[in-house]
Amino acid sequence: MKLFWLAIRMQWFEVLECFKVLWRFRSNRTFILSYLQLKMIFLLDSPYKVSKRYLFKKGEVDLYQYGETPVSLFADIVSEFGVDHSDCVYELGAGSGFCSLWLSASLGIQTTAVELVPVFCSRLEKVRQRNNIDCLNVRNNSYFSEKLQPATLLYIYASNLDDLAITELAAKLMQLPVGTRVISVSYSMVDYCQPNTFRVLKTMSARFPWGEADVFLQVRVADTPMSVD
Ligand SMILES: C[S@@+](CC[C@H](N)C(=O)[O-])C[C@H]1O[C@@H](n2cnc3c(N)ncnc32)[C@H](O)[C@@H]1O
Repeated sequence: MKLFWLAIRMQWFEVLECFKVLWRFRSNRTFILSYLQLKMIFLLDSPYKVSKRYLFKKGEVDLYQYGETPVSLFADIVSEFGVDHSDCVYELGAGSGFCSLWLSASLGIQTTAVELVPVFCSRLEKVRQRNNIDCLNVRNNSYFSEKLQPATLLYIYASNLDDLAITELAAKLMQLPVGTRVISVSYSMVDYCQPNTFRVLKTMSARFPWGEADVFLQVRVADTPMSVD
């Protein structure tokens, strides 16, 4: 019964969020059209179901690892931390891709959505092609093996990772050039990186569908990237 009410609450939240996004970004035709198309694609087969199916196939024990940053919240985070038109943004683990879609279609920012689940990538790619969103790049790959070098700003909401995996990701981030910014949800990458490689510039508290979380903006500071090989 508890799960039933939780599901109803989530559905209600999603409907409200959808109207909020449509109203807030109504002046941007390309974004609104592509957003609605992607929403329609997920209407009967939600991102949560897609992720659960993938994790089941992979033999994972926890099938409920998936979560999303609502686009309206993502827009608040980006506005608080700042993004520039010269930025090259990488979303590591882009999920259904709504945040990457917003960055590219609404702000016109060069964005790369890196995601492991093929269904997420093919759906986002379909919408990207249909709407000619040239500044969006969809990569069906693991962010552990993806080349991140062109990125100037990365967004990481990786609730599925344990401490060991975050440390592995941190080692990869330490190879990024000085000045690269990283936005992470729930934990600061500084805690997982070697001293003097990243510095927290700003934090904010954000309200996700599942509750409150801290979001961190950090920057690569040292000029001697460490090698992990
Ligand atoms: C918590 S969701 C976040 C989705 C999206 N970034 C957002 O904020 O709405 C994490 C996503 O990362 C993906 N993922 C997990 N491990 C990954 C990896 N090694 N490489 C690429 N994507 C990964 C999962 O499939 C999932 O879609």
